[in-house]
Amino acid sequence: MTDDQISTHAQLFDLTGKDALVTGGTRGIGLMMARGLLQAGARVVISSRKADACADAQQHLAQFGDVRAIPADLSRHEECIRLADLVTADTDGLQILVNNAGATWGEPLESFPDSAWDKVLDLNLKSPFWLVQALLPALRQAGTADDPARVINVGSIDGIHVSRLPIYSYAASKAALHQLTRVLARELGPQHITVNAVAPGPFRSKMMAATLDAFGDSIAASAPLRRIGRDDDMAGIAVFLASRAGSYLTGAIIPVDGGIATTASGTSG
Ligand SMILES: NC(=O)c1ccc[n+]([C@@H]2O[C@H](COP(=O)([O-])OP(=O)(O)OC[C@H]3O[C@@H](n4cnc5c(N)ncnc54)[C@H](OP(=O)(O)O)[C@@H]3O)[C@@H](O)[C@H]2O)c1
Repeated sequence: MTDDQISTHAQLFDLTGKDALVTGGTRGIGLMMARGLLQAGARVVISSRKADACADAQQHLAQFGDVRAIPADLSRHEECIRLADLVTADTDGLQILVNNAGATWGEPLESFPDSAWDKVLDLNLKSPFWLVQALLPALRQAGTADDPARVINVGSIDGIHVSRLPIYSYAASKAALHQLTRVLARELGPQHITVNAVAPGPFRSKMMAATLDAFGDSIAASAPLRRIGRDDDMAGIAVFLASRAGSYLTGAIIPVDGGIATTASGTSG
């Protein structure tokens, strides 16, 4: 091994000079990831639908680094293109794309509506694809063989195991996003772009508030690590995947779940 293959600890995780886009970065998991990327030195653009939420999150995150917020409704194709154009207007390339914005819908099978398929698939599955498509020139420009550009899709353990909740379109969207991650990883690897997915377990957020209020203690007790996720767990995986430390992974679906899905037991054997 030569010396130039060995980084210092700081270099392994340093994101200085890199540009990142985190969708849904105004709260919850996106906010956790955006904070981590900023602390590692990246310039970060966050985005969500609501202009006031964007302004509030930008103000909060500014203590950690150089952050800008751009409102956009990413469930619409033309909004993904508009956001991509704005993000790349004054940069040469985009090193890090975090497709995090997501929505869920819970309703019994008998009454589960058609609109719950469109709403969830448009945002959770199609918008990551549209953003990769629109940002491809910027990702290609940024990536090198030694330091590829990174796409980080936020999937879910509900795309790996079978949830007890009636979240039909959500579970299907996340399993599909995991497979799209692998498909894109194979195509984009030779173009110096890695594509990985993080599959979170339970983390406190607006989306998870009702579930954790009702079942938080039992969910934590059922996890081998006996707790729900912390902000740092999401910040850490985002920095790892975006940094030199994560530059040889692609097509991976990484559960960050305290062991809930990774050690789920079967009933036989
Ligand atoms: N929390 C968990 O335990 C958990 C577990 C597994 C996976 N996940 C995944 O993690 C991601 C984030 O979830 P979260 O729990 O942090 O949820 P959350 O608190 O509801 O945050 C969702 C974020 O997405 C934005 N958003 C929603 N609809 C949007 C749209 N049409 N266009 C653009 N932005 C939109 C929201 O802001 P606006 O309302 O302002 O648009 C918000 O910033 C999702 O993909 C979710 O499936 C979460």
